[in-house]
Amino acid sequence: MSVPQPSRGQWSSQLGFILAAAGSAVGLGNIWRFPYMAGKNGGGAFILVYLLCVIGLGLPVMLVEISLGRATQKNAVGAIEAVAPGSRWKALGYLAMLTGLGILSYYSVIAGRVLACCESYVVSGFSPTADLASAGLGSDVVYFFVFLALTVFVVAGGVQRGIERWAKVLMPMLLLIMAAIIVRGLMLPGAGAGVRWLLEVDFSKIHLDTILDAMAQAFFSLSLGMGAMLTYGSYLSKRQNILTSGAWVVTFDTAIAILAGFMIFPAVFAFGHDPAAGPALIFGVLPEVFRAMFGGGVVGAVFFFLICVAALTSTVSLLEVITAYFVDERGWSRRRAVLAIGAVTFLVGLPSALDFAGIAPWNRIAFLGQTGFLSIMDFIWGNLSLAVGSLLLCLFVAWVWGIRNASDEIASTSPAFRKIAPVWQFTVTWVAPAAILAILLTLVL
Ligand code: TRP
Repeated sequence: MSVPQPSRGQWSSQLGFILAAAGSAVGLGNIWRFPYMAGKNGGGAFILVYLLCVIGLGLPVMLVEISLGRATQKNAVGAIEAVAPGSRWKALGYLAMLTGLGILSYYSVIAGRVLACCESYVVSGFSPTADLASAGLGSDVVYFFVFLALTVFVVAGGVQRGIERWAKVLMPMLLLIMAAIIVRGLMLPGAGAGVRWLLEVDFSKIHLDTILDAMAQAFFSLSLGMGAMLTYGSYLSKRQNILTSGAWVVTFDTAIAILAGFMIFPAVFAFGHDPAAGPALIFGVLPEVFRAMFGGGVVGAVFFFLICVAALTSTVSLLEVITAYFVDERGWSRRRAVLAIGAVTFLVGLPSALDFAGIAPWNRIAFLGQTGFLSIMDFIWGNLSLAVGSLLLCLFVAWVWGIRNASDEIASTSPAFRKIAPVWQFTVTWVAPAAILAILLTLVL
Protein backbone atom coordinates (compact mmCIF):
# COMPACT_ATOMS: atom_id res chain seq x y z
CA MET A 1 0.00 0.00 0.00
CA SER A 2 2.42 2.70 0.94
CA VAL A 3 5.00 1.96 -1.68
CA PRO A 4 7.45 4.83 -2.12
CA GLN A 5 6.18 8.04 -3.61
CA PRO A 6 5.84 7.67 -7.39
CA SER A 7 3.79 4.48 -7.27
CA ARG A 8 1.97 5.04 -4.00
CA GLY A 9 -1.13 2.89 -3.63
CA GLN A 10 -4.67 4.22 -3.79
CA TRP A 11 -8.07 2.86 -2.89
CA SER A 12 -9.81 1.49 -5.95
CA SER A 13 -12.96 3.47 -5.22
CA GLN A 14 -14.62 5.63 -2.63
CA LEU A 15 -16.33 2.54 -1.27
CA GLY A 16 -12.90 0.99 -0.92
CA PHE A 17 -11.81 3.81 1.35
CA ILE A 18 -15.02 3.74 3.37
CA LEU A 19 -14.69 0.00 3.91
CA ALA A 20 -11.04 0.19 4.90
CA ALA A 21 -11.60 3.15 7.20
CA ALA A 22 -14.65 1.49 8.70
CA GLY A 23 -12.56 -1.67 9.04
CA SER A 24 -10.05 0.31 11.05
CA ALA A 25 -12.74 1.98 13.14
CA VAL A 26 -14.90 -1.06 13.85
CA GLY A 27 -13.12 -3.44 16.14
CA LEU A 28 -12.61 -4.28 19.78
CA GLY A 29 -13.27 -0.61 20.49
CA ASN A 30 -16.91 -1.22 19.68
CA ILE A 31 -17.41 -4.73 21.01
CA TRP A 32 -15.02 -4.89 23.95
CA ARG A 33 -14.06 -1.35 24.99
CA PHE A 34 -17.36 0.49 24.52
CA PRO A 35 -19.33 -1.91 26.77
CA TYR A 36 -16.53 -1.97 29.33
CA MET A 37 -16.37 1.84 29.43
CA ALA A 38 -20.16 2.23 29.51
CA GLY A 39 -20.34 -0.37 32.28
CA LYS A 40 -17.71 1.38 34.33
CA ASN A 41 -19.40 4.77 33.88
CA GLY A 42 -23.02 3.97 34.63
CA GLY A 43 -24.73 3.24 31.30
CA GLY A 44 -27.16 5.74 29.77
CA ALA A 45 -25.37 8.83 31.01
CA PHE A 46 -22.11 7.65 29.45
CA ILE A 47 -23.82 6.84 26.16
CA LEU A 48 -25.35 10.29 25.95
CA VAL A 49 -22.00 12.01 26.55
CA TYR A 50 -20.39 9.60 24.10
CA LEU A 51 -22.83 10.51 21.32
CA LEU A 52 -22.25 14.21 21.94
CA CYS A 53 -18.49 13.64 21.70
CA VAL A 54 -18.82 11.67 18.46
CA ILE A 55 -20.81 14.44 16.79
CA GLY A 56 -19.06 17.45 18.32
CA LEU A 57 -15.46 16.20 18.31
CA GLY A 58 -15.20 12.87 16.48
CA LEU A 59 -16.60 13.90 13.11
CA PRO A 60 -14.69 17.22 12.99
CA VAL A 61 -11.38 15.52 13.88
CA MET A 62 -12.11 12.79 11.34
CA LEU A 63 -12.30 15.46 8.63
CA VAL A 64 -9.09 17.06 9.97
CA GLU A 65 -7.16 13.82 9.59
CA ILE A 66 -8.54 12.76 6.22
CA SER A 67 -8.04 16.19 4.65
CA LEU A 68 -4.44 16.48 5.86
CA GLY A 69 -3.69 12.99 4.60
CA ARG A 70 -5.25 13.51 1.21
CA ALA A 71 -3.71 16.92 0.66
CA THR A 72 -0.18 15.72 1.41
CA GLN A 73 -0.50 12.10 0.26
CA LYS A 74 1.92 11.18 3.03
CA ASN A 75 2.28 9.20 6.28
CA ALA A 76 1.81 10.91 9.65
CA VAL A 77 5.37 12.22 10.02
CA GLY A 78 5.73 12.98 6.31
CA ALA A 79 2.47 14.94 6.19
CA ILE A 80 3.66 17.23 8.98
CA GLU A 81 7.05 17.66 7.34
CA ALA A 82 5.36 18.54 4.05
CA VAL A 83 3.30 21.30 5.64
CA ALA A 84 5.86 22.63 8.12
CA PRO A 85 9.35 21.54 7.03
CA GLY A 86 11.88 21.30 9.82
CA SER A 87 9.51 22.40 12.57
CA ARG A 88 9.03 20.92 16.04
CA TRP A 89 5.59 19.71 14.96
CA LYS A 90 7.36 16.63 13.70
CA ALA A 91 7.24 15.42 17.29
CA LEU A 92 3.49 15.04 16.86
CA GLY A 93 4.18 12.50 14.15
CA TYR A 94 6.44 10.54 16.49
CA LEU A 95 3.88 10.74 19.28
CA ALA A 96 1.35 9.26 16.86
CA MET A 97 3.63 6.32 16.14
CA LEU A 98 4.37 5.74 19.79
CA THR A 99 0.66 5.79 20.58
CA GLY A 100 0.05 3.28 17.81
CA LEU A 101 2.62 0.95 19.31
CA GLY A 102 1.17 1.38 22.80
CA ILE A 103 -2.37 0.60 21.68
CA LEU A 104 -1.30 -2.26 19.44
CA SER A 105 0.53 -3.89 22.36
CA TYR A 106 -2.47 -4.47 24.62
CA TYR A 107 -5.14 -4.49 21.91
CA SER A 108 -3.52 -7.61 20.49
CA VAL A 109 -3.73 -9.25 23.91
CA ILE A 110 -7.51 -8.82 23.97
CA ALA A 111 -7.75 -9.86 20.32
CA GLY A 112 -5.70 -12.94 21.20
CA ARG A 113 -8.27 -13.88 23.84
CA VAL A 114 -11.02 -13.50 21.22
CA LEU A 115 -9.07 -15.87 19.01
CA ALA A 116 -8.74 -18.30 21.92
CA CYS A 117 -12.51 -18.14 22.47
CA CYS A 118 -13.18 -18.89 18.82
CA GLU A 119 -10.81 -21.84 18.94
CA SER A 120 -12.27 -23.27 22.11
CA TYR A 121 -15.75 -23.23 20.57
CA VAL A 122 -14.55 -25.12 17.54
CA VAL A 123 -12.32 -27.72 19.21
CA SER A 124 -14.89 -28.50 21.89
CA GLY A 125 -17.50 -29.33 19.26
CA PHE A 126 -19.24 -26.02 19.95
CA SER A 127 -19.80 -26.48 23.67
CA PRO A 128 -16.76 -25.11 25.47
CA THR A 129 -16.38 -25.94 29.13
CA ALA A 130 -13.46 -23.65 29.89
CA ASP A 131 -14.03 -20.37 31.70
CA LEU A 132 -13.41 -17.90 28.91
CA ALA A 133 -13.34 -14.92 31.24
CA SER A 134 -10.09 -16.04 32.79
CA ALA A 135 -8.14 -18.04 30.23
CA GLY A 136 -5.11 -18.06 32.48
CA LEU A 137 -1.83 -19.94 32.23
CA GLY A 138 0.39 -19.30 29.29
CA SER A 139 -2.40 -19.28 26.74
CA ASP A 140 -2.95 -15.54 26.69
CA VAL A 141 0.71 -15.04 25.80
CA VAL A 142 0.55 -17.63 23.06
CA TYR A 143 -2.60 -16.23 21.47
CA PHE A 144 -1.27 -12.70 21.79
CA PHE A 145 1.76 -13.79 19.84
CA VAL A 146 -0.33 -15.54 17.20
CA PHE A 147 -2.59 -12.55 16.71
CA LEU A 148 0.32 -10.16 16.44
CA ALA A 149 1.93 -12.47 13.90
CA LEU A 150 -1.28 -12.41 11.84
CA THR A 151 -1.21 -8.61 11.87
CA VAL A 152 2.43 -8.55 10.81
CA PHE A 153 1.65 -11.00 8.04
CA VAL A 154 -1.19 -8.91 6.60
CA VAL A 155 0.70 -5.62 6.76
CA ALA A 156 3.80 -7.24 5.24
CA GLY A 157 1.80 -8.07 2.14
CA GLY A 158 0.38 -4.57 1.79
CA VAL A 159 -3.04 -4.14 3.25
CA GLN A 160 -5.02 -2.41 0.55
CA ARG A 161 -6.62 -5.12 -1.51
CA GLY A 162 -6.90 -7.56 1.34
CA ILE A 163 -8.89 -5.22 3.52
CA GLU A 164 -11.20 -4.02 0.79
CA ARG A 165 -12.09 -7.58 -0.09
CA TRP A 166 -12.64 -8.89 3.45
CA ALA A 167 -14.64 -5.94 4.67
CA LYS A 168 -17.24 -6.19 1.92
CA VAL A 169 -18.37 -9.64 3.02
CA LEU A 170 -17.65 -9.69 6.72
CA MET A 171 -19.13 -6.40 7.88
CA PRO A 172 -22.67 -7.32 6.81
CA MET A 173 -22.19 -10.77 8.35
CA LEU A 174 -21.14 -9.20 11.64
CA LEU A 175 -24.26 -7.03 11.65
CA LEU A 176 -26.51 -10.03 11.03
CA ILE A 177 -25.05 -12.15 13.77
CA MET A 178 -25.15 -9.27 16.23
CA ALA A 179 -28.83 -8.79 15.43
CA ALA A 180 -29.47 -12.46 16.23
CA ILE A 181 -27.58 -12.22 19.54
CA ILE A 182 -29.46 -9.05 20.49
CA VAL A 183 -32.82 -10.69 19.83
CA ARG A 184 -31.91 -13.70 21.96
CA GLY A 185 -30.53 -11.52 24.74
CA LEU A 186 -33.67 -9.39 24.87
CA MET A 187 -35.78 -12.51 25.38
CA LEU A 188 -33.90 -13.53 28.53
CA PRO A 189 -35.85 -13.10 31.75
CA GLY A 190 -34.63 -9.95 33.47
CA ALA A 191 -33.22 -8.42 30.28
CA GLY A 192 -35.47 -5.38 30.64
CA ALA A 193 -33.30 -4.04 33.47
CA GLY A 194 -30.37 -3.89 31.05
CA VAL A 195 -32.37 -2.00 28.44
CA ARG A 196 -33.49 0.50 31.06
CA TRP A 197 -29.91 0.86 32.27
CA LEU A 198 -28.83 1.68 28.70
CA LEU A 199 -31.53 4.23 28.04
CA GLU A 200 -31.97 5.94 31.38
CA VAL A 201 -29.77 8.98 31.74
CA ASP A 202 -28.82 9.60 35.35
CA PHE A 203 -27.15 13.00 35.24
CA SER A 204 -25.67 12.53 38.70
CA LYS A 205 -23.41 9.89 37.16
CA ILE A 206 -21.70 12.35 34.82
CA HIS A 207 -18.34 13.25 36.37
CA LEU A 208 -15.19 14.59 34.83
CA ASP A 209 -13.70 11.17 34.35
CA THR A 210 -16.95 10.07 32.68
CA ILE A 211 -16.46 12.87 30.19
CA LEU A 212 -12.79 12.03 29.61
CA ASP A 213 -13.64 8.35 29.15
CA ALA A 214 -16.45 9.21 26.71
CA MET A 215 -14.38 11.67 24.71
CA ALA A 216 -11.41 9.34 24.49
CA GLN A 217 -13.67 6.41 23.65
CA ALA A 218 -14.99 8.44 20.70
CA PHE A 219 -11.42 9.01 19.45
CA PHE A 220 -10.46 5.40 20.09
CA SER A 221 -13.48 3.93 18.38
CA LEU A 222 -13.14 6.19 15.35
CA SER A 223 -9.36 5.50 15.13
CA LEU A 224 -8.53 9.17 15.63
CA GLY A 225 -5.64 10.98 17.26
CA MET A 226 -2.68 9.00 15.99
CA GLY A 227 -2.67 9.44 12.25
CA ALA A 228 -4.47 6.27 11.20
CA MET A 229 -7.22 8.11 9.33
CA LEU A 230 -4.56 10.51 8.07
CA THR A 231 -2.59 7.62 6.60
CA TYR A 232 -5.71 6.02 5.10
CA GLY A 233 -6.79 9.41 3.76
CA SER A 234 -3.46 9.69 2.00
CA TYR A 235 -4.47 6.76 -0.21
CA LEU A 236 -7.67 8.57 -1.19
CA SER A 237 -7.78 9.96 -4.72
CA LYS A 238 -8.34 13.64 -5.41
CA ARG A 239 -11.74 12.87 -6.88
CA GLN A 240 -13.35 11.31 -3.84
CA ASN A 241 -15.61 12.96 -1.34
CA ILE A 242 -14.05 13.42 2.11
CA LEU A 243 -17.20 14.67 3.82
CA THR A 244 -19.53 11.83 2.86
CA SER A 245 -16.83 9.18 3.35
CA GLY A 246 -16.04 10.50 6.82
CA ALA A 247 -19.69 10.78 7.76
CA TRP A 248 -20.35 7.20 6.68
CA VAL A 249 -17.49 5.85 8.74
CA VAL A 250 -18.64 7.76 11.83
CA THR A 251 -22.25 6.61 11.41
CA PHE A 252 -21.36 3.00 10.83
CA ASP A 253 -18.93 2.81 13.73
CA THR A 254 -21.33 4.47 16.16
CA ALA A 255 -24.20 2.22 15.14
CA ILE A 256 -22.11 -0.87 15.83
CA ALA A 257 -21.04 0.40 19.26
CA ILE A 258 -24.64 1.08 20.30
CA LEU A 259 -25.70 -2.32 18.99
CA ALA A 260 -22.91 -3.89 21.03
CA GLY A 261 -24.39 -2.21 24.10
CA PHE A 262 -27.75 -3.82 23.36
CA MET A 263 -26.01 -7.11 22.79
CA ILE A 264 -24.19 -7.13 26.13
CA PHE A 265 -26.16 -5.32 28.82
CA PRO A 266 -29.54 -7.05 28.73
CA ALA A 267 -27.58 -10.26 29.26
CA VAL A 268 -25.35 -8.71 31.93
CA PHE A 269 -28.45 -7.97 33.99
CA ALA A 270 -30.28 -11.18 33.13
CA PHE A 271 -27.35 -13.30 34.33
CA GLY A 272 -26.53 -11.08 37.29
CA HIS A 273 -23.07 -9.96 36.15
CA ASP A 274 -21.42 -6.75 37.32
CA PRO A 275 -21.60 -4.11 34.56
CA ALA A 276 -18.42 -2.55 35.96
CA ALA A 277 -16.43 -5.79 35.65
CA GLY A 278 -13.79 -4.08 33.49
CA PRO A 279 -11.82 -5.45 30.53
CA ALA A 280 -13.01 -9.04 31.02
CA LEU A 281 -16.71 -8.08 30.85
CA ILE A 282 -17.66 -9.48 27.43
CA PHE A 283 -15.73 -12.71 27.99
CA GLY A 284 -17.80 -13.51 31.05
CA VAL A 285 -21.18 -12.56 29.64
CA LEU A 286 -21.31 -13.60 25.98
CA PRO A 287 -20.62 -17.32 26.49
CA GLU A 288 -23.66 -17.42 28.80
CA VAL A 289 -25.83 -15.91 26.06
CA PHE A 290 -24.53 -18.45 23.58
CA ARG A 291 -25.25 -21.28 26.01
CA ALA A 292 -28.86 -20.09 26.18
CA MET A 293 -29.20 -19.86 22.40
CA PHE A 294 -30.43 -22.52 20.03
CA GLY A 295 -27.30 -23.50 18.12
CA GLY A 296 -25.42 -21.16 20.41
CA GLY A 297 -22.15 -23.05 20.10
CA VAL A 298 -21.99 -22.38 16.39
CA VAL A 299 -23.18 -18.80 16.84
CA GLY A 300 -20.42 -18.30 19.42
CA ALA A 301 -17.74 -19.69 17.15
CA VAL A 302 -18.85 -17.56 14.19
CA PHE A 303 -19.25 -14.47 16.35
CA PHE A 304 -15.78 -14.71 17.88
CA PHE A 305 -14.36 -15.38 14.43
CA LEU A 306 -15.96 -12.24 13.01
CA ILE A 307 -14.73 -10.16 15.95
CA CYS A 308 -11.26 -11.53 15.34
CA VAL A 309 -11.38 -10.33 11.76
CA ALA A 310 -12.79 -6.95 12.84
CA ALA A 311 -9.92 -6.66 15.32
CA LEU A 312 -7.44 -7.64 12.63
CA THR A 313 -8.57 -4.88 10.26
CA SER A 314 -8.01 -2.49 13.20
CA THR A 315 -4.58 -3.74 14.28
CA VAL A 316 -3.54 -3.62 10.65
CA SER A 317 -4.25 0.12 10.61
CA LEU A 318 -2.31 0.62 13.84
CA LEU A 319 0.70 -1.20 12.47
CA GLU A 320 0.36 0.47 9.08
CA VAL A 321 0.87 3.95 10.55
CA ILE A 322 4.25 2.97 11.99
CA THR A 323 5.22 0.88 8.98
CA ALA A 324 4.40 3.66 6.50
CA TYR A 325 6.88 5.88 8.30
CA PHE A 326 9.79 3.43 8.17
CA VAL A 327 9.06 2.55 4.55
CA ASP A 328 8.43 6.09 3.23
CA GLU A 329 10.84 8.12 5.32
CA ARG A 330 13.60 5.69 6.23
CA GLY A 331 13.63 3.59 3.12
CA TRP A 332 13.22 0.30 5.00
CA SER A 333 11.70 -2.65 3.22
CA ARG A 334 8.15 -3.41 4.28
CA ARG A 335 9.20 -6.84 5.54
CA ARG A 336 11.98 -5.53 7.71
CA ALA A 337 9.75 -2.78 9.11
CA VAL A 338 6.87 -5.03 10.13
CA LEU A 339 9.14 -7.69 11.66
CA ALA A 340 11.05 -5.16 13.73
CA ILE A 341 7.94 -3.31 14.91
CA GLY A 342 6.19 -6.60 15.59
CA ALA A 343 9.05 -7.80 17.79
CA VAL A 344 9.12 -4.58 19.80
CA THR A 345 5.33 -4.66 20.19
CA PHE A 346 5.51 -8.21 21.52
CA LEU A 347 7.95 -7.19 24.24
CA VAL A 348 5.93 -4.13 25.17
CA GLY A 349 2.71 -6.16 25.28
CA LEU A 350 4.08 -9.04 27.34
CA PRO A 351 3.26 -7.52 30.74
CA SER A 352 -0.30 -6.82 29.53
CA ALA A 353 -0.70 -10.42 28.41
CA LEU A 354 0.53 -11.75 31.76
CA ASP A 355 -1.76 -9.32 33.54
CA PHE A 356 -4.80 -10.33 31.51
CA ALA A 357 -4.00 -13.98 32.10
CA GLY A 358 -4.14 -13.24 35.81
CA ILE A 359 -0.72 -14.74 36.47
CA ALA A 360 1.34 -11.62 36.98
CA PRO A 361 1.98 -9.90 40.28
CA TRP A 362 1.25 -6.60 38.56
CA ASN A 363 -2.46 -7.16 37.98
CA ARG A 364 -3.17 -5.28 41.20
CA ILE A 365 -0.89 -2.31 40.65
CA ALA A 366 -2.67 1.02 40.58
CA PHE A 367 -1.71 4.17 38.71
CA LEU A 368 -3.70 7.22 37.59
CA GLY A 369 -6.80 5.71 39.12
CA GLN A 370 -6.56 2.50 37.09
CA THR A 371 -5.90 -0.99 38.43
CA GLY A 372 -3.89 -3.57 36.53
CA PHE A 373 -1.18 -3.18 33.91
CA LEU A 374 -3.47 -3.57 30.89
CA SER A 375 -5.97 -1.02 32.18
CA ILE A 376 -3.16 1.41 32.87
CA MET A 377 -1.78 0.99 29.34
CA ASP A 378 -5.29 1.46 27.95
CA PHE A 379 -5.67 4.64 29.98
CA ILE A 380 -2.32 6.13 28.97
CA TRP A 381 -2.43 5.33 25.24
CA GLY A 382 -6.13 4.78 24.55
CA ASN A 383 -7.34 7.75 26.61
CA LEU A 384 -4.69 10.38 27.32
CA SER A 385 -2.48 10.04 24.31
CA LEU A 386 -5.30 10.00 21.75
CA ALA A 387 -6.82 13.10 23.35
CA VAL A 388 -3.45 14.90 23.24
CA GLY A 389 -2.89 13.74 19.66
CA SER A 390 -6.33 14.93 18.53
CA LEU A 391 -5.78 18.26 20.26
CA LEU A 392 -2.43 18.81 18.57
CA LEU A 393 -3.75 17.69 15.18
CA CYS A 394 -6.55 20.26 15.38
CA LEU A 395 -4.08 22.99 16.35
CA PHE A 396 -1.67 21.98 13.62
CA VAL A 397 -4.31 21.98 10.89
CA ALA A 398 -6.05 25.14 12.11
CA TRP A 399 -3.00 27.28 12.84
CA VAL A 400 -0.07 25.90 10.90
CA TRP A 401 -1.52 24.42 7.74
CA GLY A 402 -4.37 26.94 7.82
CA ILE A 403 -8.03 26.16 8.33
CA ARG A 404 -8.83 27.69 4.92
CA ASN A 405 -6.51 25.29 3.16
CA ALA A 406 -8.08 22.37 4.99
CA SER A 407 -11.58 23.60 4.09
CA ASP A 408 -10.64 23.97 0.45
CA GLU A 409 -9.26 20.44 0.40
CA ILE A 410 -12.58 19.06 1.64
CA ALA A 411 -14.77 21.39 -0.43
CA SER A 412 -12.90 20.65 -3.65
CA THR A 413 -14.90 17.44 -4.05
CA SER A 414 -17.81 18.28 -1.84
CA PRO A 415 -19.51 21.57 -2.72
CA ALA A 416 -22.10 20.90 -0.02
CA PHE A 417 -19.34 21.29 2.55
CA ARG A 418 -19.23 25.05 1.90
CA LYS A 419 -22.48 25.40 3.83
CA ILE A 420 -21.22 23.83 7.03
CA ALA A 421 -17.59 24.92 6.62
CA PRO A 422 -17.84 27.90 9.00
CA VAL A 423 -19.12 25.66 11.81
CA TRP A 424 -16.40 23.11 11.16
CA GLN A 425 -13.69 25.77 11.01
CA PHE A 426 -14.82 27.29 14.29
CA THR A 427 -14.97 23.86 15.90
CA VAL A 428 -11.51 22.82 14.79
CA THR A 429 -9.88 26.17 15.53
CA TRP A 430 -11.46 26.91 18.91
CA VAL A 431 -14.07 24.56 20.31
CA ALA A 432 -12.33 21.20 19.97
CA PRO A 433 -8.90 22.35 21.23
CA ALA A 434 -10.48 24.22 24.15
CA ALA A 435 -12.76 21.35 25.09
CA ILE A 436 -10.04 18.70 24.93
CA LEU A 437 -7.59 20.89 26.81
CA ALA A 438 -10.11 21.71 29.51
CA ILE A 439 -10.94 18.06 30.07
CA LEU A 440 -7.27 17.07 30.18
CA LEU A 441 -6.35 19.90 32.53
CA THR A 442 -9.09 19.21 35.06
CA LEU A 443 -7.72 15.71 35.21
CA VAL A 444 -4.25 16.77 36.26
CA LEU A 445 -5.24 19.67 38.48
N1 TRP B 1 -10.79 1.95 16.27
C1 TRP B 1 -10.35 0.62 16.55
C2 TRP B 1 -11.38 -0.07 17.40
O1 TRP B 1 -12.33 0.53 17.78
C3 TRP B 1 -8.99 0.59 17.19
C4 TRP B 1 -8.00 1.38 16.41
C5 TRP B 1 -7.51 1.07 15.20
C6 TRP B 1 -7.49 2.63 16.74
N2 TRP B 1 -6.69 2.05 14.77
C7 TRP B 1 -6.67 3.04 15.69
C8 TRP B 1 -7.68 3.43 17.83
C9 TRP B 1 -6.03 4.26 15.72
C10 TRP B 1 -7.02 4.65 17.86
C11 TRP B 1 -6.24 5.07 16.81
O2 TRP B 1 -11.25 -1.22 17.70
